[in-house]
Amino acid sequence: MYERTYCMLKPEAVAGGLVGEILARLERVGLVIERLELACVTKEQARENYVEHAEKPFYEELVAHITSGPVVKMVLGGEGAVAVTRKLMGATDPLEAAPGTIRGDFSLTLDRNVIHGSDSLASAEREIKVFFPA
Ligand code: RTP
Ligand code: MG
Repeated sequence: MYERTYCMLKPEAVAGGLVGEILARLERVGLVIERLELACVTKEQARENYVEHAEKPFYEELVAHITSGPVVKMVLGGEGAVAVTRKLMGATDPLEAAPGTIRGDFSLTLDRNVIHGSDSLASAEREIKVFFPA
């Protein structure tokens, strides 16, 4: 089924000059870039995006980090786009992310794991509305 997911290259990816290489990987499998924007995330957007982690000890650091510099926000479309994007990203912790995945190849630590992708269709719909209103 054709579906849409929300994906974001985190501040360390932009600062580290990794945008082109990561976008190339996402495009190469056939995902379609429907929306693409370099922008700063507001505190409100960050809190909403990570609402599921609101009670976790790392929540404030997560919000502070994602708002610390420009990110690349995008909507990706394609057959199984949510799962395909998560597969390309690799495991959350770069130490567990396989070589060949984006996190496995471009990051070292959990708090600087270079990419965010929606974890379900419901999250994707919510996050697209948060980051690309109207
Ligand atoms: P994301 O939401 O960023 O796409 O990552 P994810 O689904 O793979 O992982 P999730 O559990 O949603 O965690 C969101 C982000 O929070 C940071 N994190 N820190 N200190 C910790 O224990 C911890 N756990 C997660 C990571 O940067 C992760 O991407
Ligand atoms: Mg997540």
